[in-house]
Amino acid sequence: MAQEDVFKKIVSHCKEYGFVFPSSDIYDGLGAVYDYGQNGVELKNNIKQYWWQSMVLLHENIVGLDSAVFMHPTVWKASGHVDAFNDPLIDNRDSKKRYRADVLIEDQIGKYEEKIEKEIAKARKRFGEAFDEAQFRSTNPRVLENEAKKSALHERFAKAMGEMNLDELKQIILDEEIACPISGTRNWTDVRQFNLMFKTEVGSTADGASTIYLRPETAQGIFVNYLNVQKTGRMKIPFGIAQIGKAFRNEIVARQFIFRMREFEQMEMQYFVKPGTELQWFEQWKQTRMAWHQALGFGAENYRFHDHEKLAHYANAASDVEFRMPFGFKEVEGIHSRTDFDLSQHAKFSGRKIEYFDPDINESYTPYVIETSIGVDRMFLSVLCHAYQEEKLEGGDTRVVLKLPAALAPTKLAIMPLVKKEGLPEKAREIMDELKFHFNCKYDEKDSIGKRYRRQDAVGTPFCITIDHETLNDGCVTLRDRDTMQQERVPVSELRARLEDKVSITSLLKKLC
Ligand code: GAP
Repeated sequence: MAQEDVFKKIVSHCKEYGFVFPSSDIYDGLGAVYDYGQNGVELKNNIKQYWWQSMVLLHENIVGLDSAVFMHPTVWKASGHVDAFNDPLIDNRDSKKRYRADVLIEDQIGKYEEKIEKEIAKARKRFGEAFDEAQFRSTNPRVLENEAKKSALHERFAKAMGEMNLDELKQIILDEEIACPISGTRNWTDVRQFNLMFKTEVGSTADGASTIYLRPETAQGIFVNYLNVQKTGRMKIPFGIAQIGKAFRNEIVARQFIFRMREFEQMEMQYFVKPGTELQWFEQWKQTRMAWHQALGFGAENYRFHDHEKLAHYANAASDVEFRMPFGFKEVEGIHSRTDFDLSQHAKFSGRKIEYFDPDINESYTPYVIETSIGVDRMFLSVLCHAYQEEKLEGGDTRVVLKLPAALAPTKLAIMPLVKKEGLPEKAREIMDELKFHFNCKYDEKDSIGKRYRRQDAVGTPFCITIDHETLNDGCVTLRDRDTMQQERVPVSELRARLEDKVSITSLLKKLC
């Protein structure tokens, strides 16, 4: 099945099974805004818990914070967002559709990559075991031609973006003959800048309301609380502040479902370090964060780092963790070495001294910062994309199963009486009443057992138990594993011990230590 079709199926599965709904669905939705349903909210909370605990429980020198969405407007002047948090936009005059010029060009680079991958896949099929990919890449004329086009475009694009040369961005679109996907024409307007922050007002207009912004990142809440936390927590450098919260961006190109949203959630951690040690910490955090992703067991081959060649003026290193989505490798997390830019800017704009007195060297300095910044929704999407599988079963049936890591699954255990009578529901309820304090259980007595298993597979429940007539005699239930579909008899008294470790976030955290 084409990857595009797989992605469409994942999107409709999300809606059908209560993971993600379009916002204000009964009013036909609101662009790039989504609501999480009964299963989605559980999965999302588990992802957040995994991140939070990996930061705050596993590191004695990282503490949490929950800062407000609304902040003093000068924060965004100091951070550079008022002047520079812009996207370059372009309109197609025929379709009247608006696009991000940089995204159109990135997609074009992606098309060259796709052509190369297709050539390689074809050759691999033709040559089988004997296929030498490295040699093929360095000798095949079509691969070489597309590689050359891709790198030339990449270089030209990076330069234009670095200089924010809007005329050059338009010229690239024209030279590459990029057409509007809707109208198919190349009738483009000029490229212009558009600020991504949402504005609103505090106070009534009569009283002289002032404009404030919905935060476009959670990080600034951490920077402006650096002194508060460092002093009240008596934190010694190096130390980190972690935060999970909503962020808002007026994204123009809202595509790929929850990949790019206007209201989304971030999990950010700012790690304050001694100047001069930041690149060492940057490398360490890259490895730590990659280990966090890979502990989910989705396969190392599905992740890669994308090191930034062109850096923002305040950064001295930056890298993205990319995950293989059905629409290609995409950024899920950014790791940035932000120097002392943010703290220095806030010191300048607020007039406060924002420094650290280092007792080891008897000196004060402005700490440098390593930031790890991951989108909850993007992480959610990557988990779902990897988990969604259509499996052919013996006998010709197909089952849709979400092979979610058990620790992230919304429901850990489905409890099912074989029939709705003869004391089986009562026994099932008794087991549920015992286990519900330890992990998320769902009681289900409707339809045949086969249908109930399929329903649980579709929402990723790792374990089901069936209570049958024998249970009343021998105190055992049938435990079914979602992935292997194997069943075994297990005493009720052993269920908690058998399952608790497998389904808890602790099982993931232990892999990190
Ligand atoms: N404080 C740094 C910062 O915000 P970013 O690269 O703009 O950096 C970090 O964002 C992460 O937030 C991204 O890697 C992505 O996972 C997530 N993110 C950013 N914009 C998003 C959007 N419009 N919708 C969903 N997630 C987004």
